[in-house]
Amino acid sequence: MKPSTKGVETGMKAHMVDAQKGTTSSRVSMELRGLGKKFLVGSDEFQALKSIDLDVGVGEFVCVLGASGCGKTTLLRILGGLEKHTEGTLRFHQESTGQPPTSIVFQEVSIFPWLNVWENVAFGLRARNAPKALIKERVSYYIEKVGLTSFSKHFPHQLSGGMKQRVSIARAFANDPEVLLLDEPFSALDERNKATLQDELLRIWEETGKTIVFVTHSIDEAIYLADRILVFTGPPGHITQTHMPEFARPRDMTAVRATPEYEMLLKSIHVGLGPTGNDPEIIE
Ligand SMILES: Nc1ncnc2c1ncn2[C@@H]1O[C@H](COP(=O)(O)OP(=O)(O)OP(=O)(O)O)[C@@H](O)[C@H]1O
Ligand SMILES: [Mg+2]
Repeated sequence: MKPSTKGVETGMKAHMVDAQKGTTSSRVSMELRGLGKKFLVGSDEFQALKSIDLDVGVGEFVCVLGASGCGKTTLLRILGGLEKHTEGTLRFHQESTGQPPTSIVFQEVSIFPWLNVWENVAFGLRARNAPKALIKERVSYYIEKVGLTSFSKHFPHQLSGGMKQRVSIARAFANDPEVLLLDEPFSALDERNKATLQDELLRIWEETGKTIVFVTHSIDEAIYLADRILVFTGPPGHITQTHMPEFARPRDMTAVRATPEYEMLLKSIHVGLGPTGNDPEIIE
């Protein structure tokens, strides 16, 4: 499979509403033009991202791969409105839906220590004054999906690291955002939980057509999940490759791994990831 720069239209999904869970599909697409980010470090500027041109189509599942320190989290934080880019433009094309535009599952555990599991997952819905019945249904549903039903009343300090991460994941899903931004969400999980949640994520995506940007260090995870894989290098972080894995869904990774296309894709991504190293670019 050759690196491809094919347009985003292959990721477009029909608008659908999942009436059962009251979730709505995504209408947002994002347009990044010449996007860059410089941080001030002491009196020096540090260029974390540079010249990113990217269109994320409505309902597209985009995976971002790249070495540690190349700017993946910075990009996600900018998309989530938690960080401001310093160069270029970022535009969301969005109809007003009443849904939050983005929800992030952070790389580090980010749940509220003073709230129990149920309250953490309900947080965004309660903040938006969602109807009580909807909150109850959706929170219970996602707590069950992440395997924490019997831990609903536990507080974060009573949970393991992977369990806390599962609370973050349930909270992001329950929040029903237009765009889900996921920063290595499954990296702290055991293989069984990881596989369950990958499939649950794909199910939610297929049912709702949400736009997803998913950061991972796992090439296989990206190939399993993505419509499009962006390979980043840096700093300064920039896109070096775009791949559109064309394996039929649902992807049986044992069968996929046996194909010559997989071999070629793997080799190509390894080349795209480049040598490791985090020599910072300091701008005088
Ligand atoms: N607030 C900040 N101030 C200064 N530099 C920052 C800040 N946040 C991130 N950086 C720098 O930007 C670069 C990219 O960081 P980022 O967290 O985006 O990397 P990453 O690709 O997510 O890495 P990892 O895979 O290890 O999570 C790093 O060199 C980091 O030191
Ligand atoms: Mg990161």
